[in-house]
Amino acid sequence: MKRRASMLREMGLAPVWRLRDAPGATEDSPPAEAPASVAVAAGVAPVVAAPAPAVLPARTAVLPTASPLVAPACVVTEGMDWDALEAAIGACRACPLHERRTMAVPGVGDRAADWLFVGEGPGAEEDLRGEPFVGQAGKLLDAMLAAIGLARGRNAYIANAVKCRPPGNRTPEAAEIAACQPYLERQIALIQPRIIVALGRPAAQTLLGGEVKINAARGRLFDRAGIPVVVTYHPAYLLRSPQDKAKAWEDLCFARAALASR
Ligand code: URA
Repeated sequence: MKRRASMLREMGLAPVWRLRDAPGATEDSPPAEAPASVAVAAGVAPVVAAPAPAVLPARTAVLPTASPLVAPACVVTEGMDWDALEAAIGACRACPLHERRTMAVPGVGDRAADWLFVGEGPGAEEDLRGEPFVGQAGKLLDAMLAAIGLARGRNAYIANAVKCRPPGNRTPEAAEIAACQPYLERQIALIQPRIIVALGRPAAQTLLGGEVKINAARGRLFDRAGIPVVVTYHPAYLLRSPQDKAKAWEDLCFARAALASR
């Protein structure tokens, strides 16, 4: 319990318990009671709330069917095992991002994880080390994982929409994401996660296809070929906007409840 409290503090969420009676709570930051049921969609079994996590959002989840982006024909990953996949990523030249990379960054974690977290693309430190989320945003992601009892390597796998660093940490372009998509698809096929958390808009759009607005997508359970997808803020955004960390915590609790009900 103490450890969990310190994890939440690390996430910058020490006041999380105060949210329960927070004055002026709005539709977006509801009080803490767990909803009787958090999801019903036509033809889909309701997602039943897990036993009262601290701030399980009382929002309705729906299950729109997402169609993954169509991958370009040039990268074929079907049938690859982990070694072949990581070798292919390391040697990839399918888009211009390979020209300036130090190292490609395939992903890290438990290859049999229930949870897959997908970010945007490697930054400077990740490019040097070949591991995703090792900078400041990564520290926050680690704290977020710990807050729900996960760690990189313990029931969680971390990957990115693109495996090579976009110059200057710019947002990856649609063509770069599309070129890299077969790698993510193969990672998903190999891991067979029970839930995917999209960290930020590019990851959400990669996983769900089409335009996604984070604030509109939060609190909804998307279906991606049978795997539920939850959308939340990117940790780098949360470093810039710490006032939204409590919402990210709500999203993680929502994902945990969805997983528990499956
Ligand atoms: N941001 C990301 O989206 N991914 C990383 O690996 C690092 C920072």
